Amino acid sequence: MERKELHSLFEQGKQWILEAGEQIRIDVEKPFEVNTKADRKDLVTEVDEKVEAFFAKRIRHTYPEHKVLGEEGLGDEIHSVDGVIWVIDPIDGTMNFVHQRRNFAISIGIYVDGEGLIGFIYDVMADVLYTAIKGEGAYKNGERLPMLGQNRKLEDSLLAMNAFWSMPNRRLDEAGVHELIRKVRGTRSYGSAALEFAFVAEGIIDAYITMRLSPWDIAGGIVIVNEVGGITTQVDGSPINILEKNTVITCNRAVHQDIVNHYIREK
Ligand code: IPD
Ligand code: CA
Ligand code: CA
Repeated sequence: MERKELHSLFEQGKQWILEAGEQIRIDVEKPFEVNTKADRKDLVTEVDEKVEAFFAKRIRHTYPEHKVLGEEGLGDEIHSVDGVIWVIDPIDGTMNFVHQRRNFAISIGIYVDGEGLIGFIYDVMADVLYTAIKGEGAYKNGERLPMLGQNRKLEDSLLAMNAFWSMPNRRLDEAGVHELIRKVRGTRSYGSAALEFAFVAEGIIDAYITMRLSPWDIAGGIVIVNEVGGITTQVDGSPINILEKNTVITCNRAVHQDIVNHYIREK
């Protein structure tokens, strides 16, 4: 894709995200219906669906040849990475949306033939927009984010992770996780994978680890983290498949190998 076309796509996506965010700030104040999906902890609201419909409709109208991969299923059935795919999480952090009315984000990655070219993460209530175009750096509300420091040590790091993965579970040896928690300076859990990616890119946390994320949780974040020199892989260090569920570690490169090689042991 030509740079000019990429920039115009970026501007269009940005405009839609800001517009959707403005509507969400109105809708979050009104009563809304909350339902569950896979289990009692997997929440969805009518606002999630409304926001995804907002994007799907506009993308189909403006770019009929583009495809949409969205969490709420209003997009297309996608079997290959060919062409332009908008990977959309209309609200990432729905539990925060429901319980806190804040700390959630719209997350969008635009992929062309499997390559992440544009990333957006919009912290809606804070009105903070993280953006990136591949090869052009990452930005927070239009201000360029610095590259991540190369000397970060694990013992000086802040690690984001859901407490669940430190309990006995089917996927991960919890003893390794305990060692990791003991080693780092501190742990955080924000409840929105997209925001956790944004915070890694901003350098205010150094790593985020989780054992099961969907494409829409990470598509925008991968592009943004890449642009500050960070890295995103599966927890065994292998590459992410953007059409599948993945285990995920996104972080400062300085701590990536150490975490992957010494602390994260899959069962
Ligand atoms: C969830 C959030 C959460 C993460 C879950 C995701 P949703 O997305 O990102 O932080 O731990 O794995 O599914 O359901 O709020 O869009
Ligand atoms: Ca999500
Ligand atoms: Ca969601």
